[in-house]
Amino acid sequence: MQIVSTIADARKIRASLNGTLGFVPTMGFLHEGHLSLVRRAREECDAVAVSIFVNPTQFSPNEDLNRYPRALERDLSLLKEAGVSFVFTPDAGEIYPPGFATSIDVGDVAKPLEGAVRPGHFSGVATVVTKLFNIIQPTKAFFGQKDAQQCAVIRRLVTDLNIPVDVVICDIVRNEKGLALSSRNSYLTDSEQERALLLHESLGKAQERIASGERNAETIKTLIAAILSKDPDFSVDYISVADPYSLTELDSVDDEALISLAVKVGNTRLLDNILVRKK
Ligand code: PAJ
Repeated sequence: MQIVSTIADARKIRASLNGTLGFVPTMGFLHEGHLSLVRRAREECDAVAVSIFVNPTQFSPNEDLNRYPRALERDLSLLKEAGVSFVFTPDAGEIYPPGFATSIDVGDVAKPLEGAVRPGHFSGVATVVTKLFNIIQPTKAFFGQKDAQQCAVIRRLVTDLNIPVDVVICDIVRNEKGLALSSRNSYLTDSEQERALLLHESLGKAQERIASGERNAETIKTLIAAILSKDPDFSVDYISVADPYSLTELDSVDDEALISLAVKVGNTRLLDNILVRKK
């Protein structure tokens, strides 16, 4: 496995590869969620590239950029074991040299939910992903459904800018109790980890209701809110029932719906979601 930190070296390796290239962009501190994307890329492509870059432009000034967890040596050994061909680990100066000024705005899909709570976040994501696509030039790129709005943003970006990359969305990986894996779970105390299971439980109950015929989005949101309110230390940012592609809120679950939520558990903001279909 080759490890490179300059764009010039990444381009050299890319040029030396034949066949299809799968790409998994990450911010490191890898867990089974990231590794599931790598495995899927290995299955579907001849070679796999992974980037590890904690992208400053997607963090707001008051967010956790400086304390975002890092474990580069461990990440590299996991990626080597997983059969990755090359890892791109640039520093911020390589990606954003002096004078850098361009940013990408994907429009309405970036505005609600995470976009409303984290202004500029998806512009940072769209810009860095575009740059990484231009540097790595993958055949396919793999993203996790865990970040459902990010998936919608990337799909919009790739379609609108005619980027020749197939976007593959992979299922959420959870721990044995149902908590969606996230690098930020490392901020949770043991008791918070336990209590955070309520997020997934509330989504499961909503899914059951829909399976037994409930269509009204407000009723579904109220059901989830009631379950989450059992924990007095939770602070709910949003509960959404939306179209999974445009992220417009739905009045009624008539076809496919993305039920997503963001909750602060203690000091840590957690996301979870579930895709539901009318039977
Ligand atoms: P990061 O949070 O490191 O996540 C990298 C990829 O792993 C994303 O596509 C994310 O959705 C996926 N992922 C994280 N947890 C997962 C889980 N439990 N199950 C399945 N997939 C999971 O997302 C980013 O980095 C950044 O925004 C990035 C796209 C790299 C741009 O900077």
